[in-house]
Amino acid sequence: MTTPAVSIKDLHKSFGDLEVLRGIDLRVEYGEVVCVIGPSGSGKSTLLRCVNLLEQPTGGTIDVLGVEITDRNVDIDDVRRHIGMVFQQFNLFGHLSVLDNLTIAQRRVLRRSRSKSVKVARENLERVGLSEKEQAYPPQLSGGQQQRVAIARSLSMDPAMMLFDEPTSALDPELVGEVLSVMRKLALDGMTMLVVTHEMAFAREVADRVVFMDDGRIIEQGTPAEVLGNPREPRTREFLHRVLHPTELATDEFLDDQAGPAGPAQVTIPKADPHDFA
Ligand SMILES: Nc1ncnc2c1ncn2[C@@H]1O[C@H](COP(=O)(O)OP(=O)(O)OP(=O)(O)O)[C@@H](O)[C@H]1O
Ligand SMILES: [Mg+2]
Repeated sequence: MTTPAVSIKDLHKSFGDLEVLRGIDLRVEYGEVVCVIGPSGSGKSTLLRCVNLLEQPTGGTIDVLGVEITDRNVDIDDVRRHIGMVFQQFNLFGHLSVLDNLTIAQRRVLRRSRSKSVKVARENLERVGLSEKEQAYPPQLSGGQQQRVAIARSLSMDPAMMLFDEPTSALDPELVGEVLSVMRKLALDGMTMLVVTHEMAFAREVADRVVFMDDGRIIEQGTPAEVLGNPREPRTREFLHRVLHPTELATDEFLDDQAGPAGPAQVTIPKADPHDFA
C-alpha cells in the first residue's frame, strides 16, 4: 500500500474541558480531493488546523507527507512549507502589491531569487486568471479576486497538498463561482486537497470523497453519490436537509423555541442581484 498524503489515527483534541475532536481516523491519498462537511462547531476547522499543527492534538497520531508530525522531535516548519493553507479570510498584506504578496514568502522561506520568485508568481497569477492585477494592492480587489490571489500565493510555494477552510464563505454570492472554478481546476491538475466547505454542489462535483462530521466525530464518509446522494446516517440526512432547505428549518426551529402563537420567523436569504450577472 502506498503512503497516503495524510493519515490521522484516533485524533483527539480538547480545549480545556471541551472535547472537540473525539477520535478521528482519516486518510487522504495523494491526488485525492476530500471535502469535509458538517454543522457549525462540529470540529472541522480544528481538524484541518491539526493537520499542520496550528492546533496541538491532545491524543492520537497524524502523518503528513510521510512525516509523523505528532512526534515532538519533528521540525513542523519543514513540513508546513509543503502544505498550502487557504482560509476564509485572505490574510494578504494590504500594503504590498499582488506580485509582492506572491514573492515575499518564496524569497524568505524558500530563498528563491527575485527573478525566479517573480516568474513563479506570474505563472500562478495566470493560473487563477489575475495576470493583469499584479501591480494592484489587495484593497483594490474584490473579495473573489483577493481569495484567488491567496490561492496563487499558496501555489507559489509549490505545496505538495492544500488545505482549504471554507474559502468562499466570506464572499458575496456572485463571487463564489470564480473561486470554486479555480479550485476545480486545481483538483483536475491533480492537487491533493482537503477542503472544509458548505458548497455542496462543489463537493458533489469535485470531491473524490466526502466526509461528514458531527460533534467531533466522523459520522460517515464515502463518494459524493453515497454521502450526499444516499446518506446512511440519520444525522447526515438531517444536516443535508437543513443545508438544502434553510428557510424551512429556520422556521421550524423558531417555532419550537417560541412554543407559542408566534408569527413565522423572518429569514433573510442573501440573493445575488440579477444585474451582477449581466
Ligand atoms: N482556540 C479555541 N479555544 C476554545 N475553544 C475552541 C477553540 N477553537 C475552537 N473551539 C471550539 O471547538 C469547537 C469546534 O470548533 P471548530 O471551529 O473546529 O468548528 P467548525 O466545525 O469549524 O465550525 P464552523 O462551521 O462554524 O466553522 C467549537 O465549540 C469551538 O467553540
Ligand atoms: Mg470552521
